[in-house]
Amino acid sequence: MAIPAQKLLVFVAYAVLTGIMTLSVRAAIDAPIFIFGDSNVDVGTNNLCKECGAKANHPYNGIDFPFSKPTGRFSNGKNIVDHIARLLGKYYKLSPPPFLALLSHKSTFKRNLLRGANFASGGAGILKETGFKHFHKVITLEEQIEQFATVRENITELLGSPKATDDLLQSSIYIFNVGSNELIEYPFAHNTSDPEELKQYIANVTQTYAIHLMNMYLLGARKFAVIGIAPLGCAPAARVQNATGGCAEFMNDGARLFHVSMQSVLTDLSLMLKGFKYSLGNLYTVTMNAIDNPRGNGFKEVISACCGNGTTDCKVGVNLCSNRDDYLFWDKFHPTDRASKQAALALVYGEGSKC
Ligand SMILES: *[C@@H]1O[C@H](CO)[C@@H](O)[C@H](O)[C@H]1NC(C)=O
Ligand SMILES: *[C@@H]1O[C@H](CO)[C@@H](O)[C@H](O)[C@H]1NC(C)=O
Ligand SMILES: *[C@@H]1O[C@H](CO)[C@@H](O)[C@H](O)[C@H]1NC(C)=O
Ligand SMILES: *[C@@H]1O[C@H](CO)[C@@H](O)[C@H](O)[C@H]1NC(C)=O
Ligand SMILES: *[C@@H]1O[C@H](CO)[C@@H](O)[C@H](O)[C@H]1NC(C)=O
Repeated sequence: MAIPAQKLLVFVAYAVLTGIMTLSVRAAIDAPIFIFGDSNVDVGTNNLCKECGAKANHPYNGIDFPFSKPTGRFSNGKNIVDHIARLLGKYYKLSPPPFLALLSHKSTFKRNLLRGANFASGGAGILKETGFKHFHKVITLEEQIEQFATVRENITELLGSPKATDDLLQSSIYIFNVGSNELIEYPFAHNTSDPEELKQYIANVTQTYAIHLMNMYLLGARKFAVIGIAPLGCAPAARVQNATGGCAEFMNDGARLFHVSMQSVLTDLSLMLKGFKYSLGNLYTVTMNAIDNPRGNGFKEVISACCGNGTTDCKVGVNLCSNRDDYLFWDKFHPTDRASKQAALALVYGEGSKC
């Protein structure tokens, strides 16, 4: 029987959740969460990477975070992985801290690793060259995984046995949200009106993603929660490329192709690698639903950015909306705290879960 795509996603998302819940209660609250990706899930990595140019450690970012603190999140408050972490267990109020922040406190470093770490770096992509042209430096997905490999050694040192490390890392959850920057950079090097070229590019990107996920499996990861790409063509920065102000279709085509391609990549990995469990969150559909039906999703503005506009970044002195919860987009590419919360609810509990 063919399972409708959306149901399947919900089902697989539940497979990961059920996986946590069938462990003992202690294990459930102790299972670390590790996060990899780009600015959608960066919680301050780039603040600690001097040369990394994609930074959100300045207002108005963080205006709705406790103490209106700019934390490095590209959001008025929390981002999607903060909300997902919170939904995965009462133990987490937010994403675990950046790996680089943990590393700067040597005395607590190893103990803190038992709650997980966030390796995500704004501007990063799946391909090793992505991000460098626009942001000077990013911490690539490959480098993020190398950092995780050192974390594995540090945890083994702490727990005193490779077996204990394997058990812990197999019960951990690995959240990936990356790929947007490949689409953002696409027009600079490709013909945006050739669908065949886009298809080949996406295939290359998702095959490269598969290699990264396989490396994570070899390092002991088993529970993969992969978040797809939002309809980036409808982001304020993309709409300005369209004379009518409509969505940039090639970007949305790319985001949909990415999802379909990741479905087969993840299916293949799960058939090939024993114990490989995954969920693939359809961020495209979840976000598009809000764009198509703003009121039904509690939004008043799903086209323009709350802070800045399609051509201007969010920073002090640009326009800033006062009713942040009414907006889908915080800045020219990233969602608001509220939009992220709603997406997290839909990805974890299924479509239709509202704030
Ligand atoms: C973590 O492990 C790496 C790789 O073995 C090592 O170089 C590093 O010193 C360790 N860090 C700490 C704080 O023990
Ligand atoms: C871009 O792709 C379109 C559609 O395949 C084609 O007609 C056009 O010649 C291409 N342009 C360039 C510059 O290659
Ligand atoms: C993707 O393309 C690059 C360069 O075009 C190539 O070096 C690389 O091997 C390709 N990767 C895959 C997985 O096809
Ligand atoms: C621009 O937006 C319109 C809808 O307003 C859409 O029909 C069209 O395909 C878009 N053009 C491009 C190049 O994406
Ligand atoms: C975007 O914001 C900048 C700076 O505030 C302003 O100069 C520009 O006109 C705005 N663009 C649009 C399309 O509103």
